[in-house]
Amino acid sequence: MLKSKIAGIGMYVPENIFTNEDMKQYMDTNDEWIQERTGIKERRYAHRTEETTTTMGVEAAKIAIKRAGTTAAEIDFIIFATLSPDYYFPGCGVLVQRAMQMNEIGALDIRNQCSGFVYALSVADQFIKTGMYKNILVIGSEKHSFGLDFSTRGRNISVIFGDGAGAVVLQPAQKDGQGILSTHLHSDGENAEMLAMYNPGTHANHWVNDKVADFNDAEIADMFMSKEMIDKGQNFPFMDGPAVFKKAIVKFPEVVVEALSQNGLTTADLNMLIPHQANLRISQFVQQKLGLQDHQVYNNIQKYGNTTAASIPIALCEAWEQGKIKEGDLVCLAAFGSGYTWGSVLVRW
Ligand code: UT7
Repeated sequence: MLKSKIAGIGMYVPENIFTNEDMKQYMDTNDEWIQERTGIKERRYAHRTEETTTTMGVEAAKIAIKRAGTTAAEIDFIIFATLSPDYYFPGCGVLVQRAMQMNEIGALDIRNQCSGFVYALSVADQFIKTGMYKNILVIGSEKHSFGLDFSTRGRNISVIFGDGAGAVVLQPAQKDGQGILSTHLHSDGENAEMLAMYNPGTHANHWVNDKVADFNDAEIADMFMSKEMIDKGQNFPFMDGPAVFKKAIVKFPEVVVEALSQNGLTTADLNMLIPHQANLRISQFVQQKLGLQDHQVYNNIQKYGNTTAASIPIALCEAWEQGKIKEGDLVCLAAFGSGYTWGSVLVRW
């Protein structure tokens, strides 16, 4: 069967740097706490009105398409992973199709938060392997800064997240043994509310006894976003950090080993692990657990924070641009996050 390869990669981060010192203007926090607990020194924040999740994705996509030696007109499918779309619906995929004046190709949005890019790559890989598509654009992009709680109440989350985008173009591999070797996807919804943004959402119920109840518009609006929800901060992301951390440090190494062993390989064969940039302490724990050397793991959370669906393609792009990933290298991408969902992609570059 055909394999798919990453033929081109690009990234885009906003110019605006927001440091840990800048955070102190808004909440009770400090540089020492943030660096010690997360490794983050600064993150990028998009322009409030001129940059959106889609526009950042488009900038990353332009670079990926050029490096793949193709054009927007040749792209035959779009997959867009994000948890911070421009609109509640439609998704960002169609906005990319419009912005890049692409043909009337399919556009799919993926909602798997931190593991969104790994899921997106896996879906793209299936379409290439079956021969259905030959040039798939896969984007991970996030604009977190628009919806974070910048009061002290939200400090455990707000200091972590940053904005940015990464993109790849997937094409059929030409050389034997090159390309995506396997992908591994998992979920466990038991703790779905541990890392979530609850509102607005359809869990609010205006049906009574299987009939739409006679509520007026204001009452219905109140169910989706009431003053009480806003007062409690339920319009912002919620995270039980320690609970997520404990699960992440188990599932990350597990899913890397799963990918390697399915291919008859070991950690000694691995040239580069690109973990989703959730927390530097998580990456260091995973590195230690897997017995990897420093040169086998790439981290850039220090500069960008956690950019969820964008973190893997941004890190992959930087590592590749710095010459840390070369043809023939074995590269593992691994993610864990909200859902919980987690997964890995093993690539022979
Ligand atoms: O990307 C998707 C998946 N996400 C993750 O994998 C994130 C996993 N979790 C984490 O990375 C960590 O749990 C956090 C970085 C979110 C939090 O670090 P922690 O070491 O688990 O801290 P904590 O939440 O247990 O809080 C410890 C203390 C608390 O104070 P008390 O109760 O001990 O007095 C917090 O109120 O640190 C306080 N705290 C802060 N202090 C200063 C929480 N956030 C901050 C802050 N600045 N920004």
